[in-house]
Amino acid sequence: MAQVFDRSSNALARASLVLTGLIVIALGVGLNELQRSPWVTRQGQRPDQPVPFSHKHHVEGLGLQCQYCHTSVEKSSYAGIPPTKTCINCHAQIWTNAELLQPVRHSWATGESINWIRIHDLPDYVYFNHQIHVNKGIGCASCHGRVDEMPLMYQQNSLQMEWCLNCHRNPSVNLRPTSEIYNMAWNGPSTGKPVWCAETAENGSANGGYVDGMRAPTAQAVSCTTTDPTGNNPNVAMLQQFTVGPASMSQAHSGTMGSPNATEGENQTVSDPPPASMPLPVSYHKFTSQAELGTYLTAQYHLRNANELSSCEVCHR
Ligand code: HEC
Ligand code: HEC
Ligand code: HEC
Ligand code: HEC
Ligand code: HEC
Repeated sequence: MAQVFDRSSNALARASLVLTGLIVIALGVGLNELQRSPWVTRQGQRPDQPVPFSHKHHVEGLGLQCQYCHTSVEKSSYAGIPPTKTCINCHAQIWTNAELLQPVRHSWATGESINWIRIHDLPDYVYFNHQIHVNKGIGCASCHGRVDEMPLMYQQNSLQMEWCLNCHRNPSVNLRPTSEIYNMAWNGPSTGKPVWCAETAENGSANGGYVDGMRAPTAQAVSCTTTDPTGNNPNVAMLQQFTVGPASMSQAHSGTMGSPNATEGENQTVSDPPPASMPLPVSYHKFTSQAELGTYLTAQYHLRNANELSSCEVCHR
């Protein structure tokens, strides 16, 4: 070949090889970036909904709890989108002539459901389940962000495999008491704002955390409070520790609005008195950091280890 091509064309060939290489690398990086870009993951997009429903107005403004509308989030894989009836509960009286609510009235009159555009949508080959996350101490805000501050709903996180795995490899940094699941402002314990937790007597006993023969997740046999149970206000604490159990949860669901076991703002709200039959917890542990609380809850909730939780079959079945 050396006789046909002189030195200079050799250099040219080398240069073009290098150039091709660079282009290929640039394309690769570009595609990879593209796959992770918000344009592909739909992060942050606010599609035109039939009705400009505001979580900020209804959650932060009116104080409605998530379960008032997303009724199945604790007990099924789907959180669910509320039927028109839920809106009509109020909008038969409030804002009855508003132009914005025309599609709601139309839906109610005709029985055709409102065509909400889905915002979070995993591919079919991924298995996801709300119930397990919510009952093992992962709050809505850990995945959906500050929904209470969203005038229009958008997807806060990528929902890509990496994002799921990032938590599955080390869930403890995100664990919170199940009583704080709906608390959008939860920040974890600190020296200034400790959290106290106790195992209720059933936990670890013969029926292994199942209360009254119900197959309640073990997580619910742990109860936590943000009010010092040993000093300041023992009555409040005694009441609070019972807001987590399945008994009070079913009461919560029979009510029309909100839930007694959810919280507003900083401190827990007190609700139902303890059912007389419930045994009292033995002793409280005090936590002043997320690291301590996370370790404790990982054990109490009987979480699988990082390897088990990142194995392919967990999400691809
Ligand atoms: C008054 C009823 C109501 C309440 C209360 C409510 N939501 Fe919603 N939510 C809706 C409706 C209607 C939609 C569908 C329209 C939209 O996406 O904005 C929705 C959509 C969502 C979506 C996106 C669904 C999708 O398409 O992917 C998430 C996530 C969500 N809500 C979380 C929450 C959380 C967390 C709370 C509590 C802080 C809450 N919602 C409280 C009515 C409600
Ligand atoms: C608990 C009562 C209640 C329920 C349930 C409720 N709303 Fe509302 N909604 C209100 C009130 C009160 C306002 C006025 C809020 C304001 O101006 O601050 C309002 C305002 C609105 C508005 C006007 C724009 C805004 O956000 O201020 C829209 C649109 C709306 N609601 C849609 C819905 C839809 C859709 C549903 C069902 C998924 C629903 N609402 C359920 C009480 C309710
Ligand atoms: C571990 C992360 C995670 C947590 C915690 C979580 N969600 Fe979701 N949520 C998702 C994912 C992922 C989807 C999309 C599911 C799909 O496409 O199948 C979703 C979808 C939804 C939807 C759309 C309807 C549906 O059921 O698919 C609503 C509404 C919703 N979530 C509300 C909530 C509420 C309310 C809470 C807190 C009680 C919550 N989510 C907690 C990750 C989470
Ligand atoms: C913020 C933390 C967090 C995020 C984000 C998260 N998970 Fe999880 N996931 C958990 C925890 C905690 C458990 C419970 C583990 C246990 O019980 O051992 C769990 C359990 C599961 C399970 C097991 C269900 C069962 O019945 O065995 C599946 C499936 C799952 N997650 C899918 C997903 C998918 C898919 C995503 C991303 C779209 C995701 N998770 C994001 C924390 C998270
Ligand atoms: C915690 C849940 C989870 C686990 C565990 C998990 N995946 Fe995924 N996987 C996902 C999600 C979510 C997606 C969808 C990503 C998207 O929409 O871009 C996905 C997508 C994929 C894809 C499609 C291509 C891609 O990257 O988007 C492949 C292939 C895949 N996973 C293989 C695996 C293998 C192999 C394992 C085991 C080593 C595994 N996954 C473990 C959640 C998981």
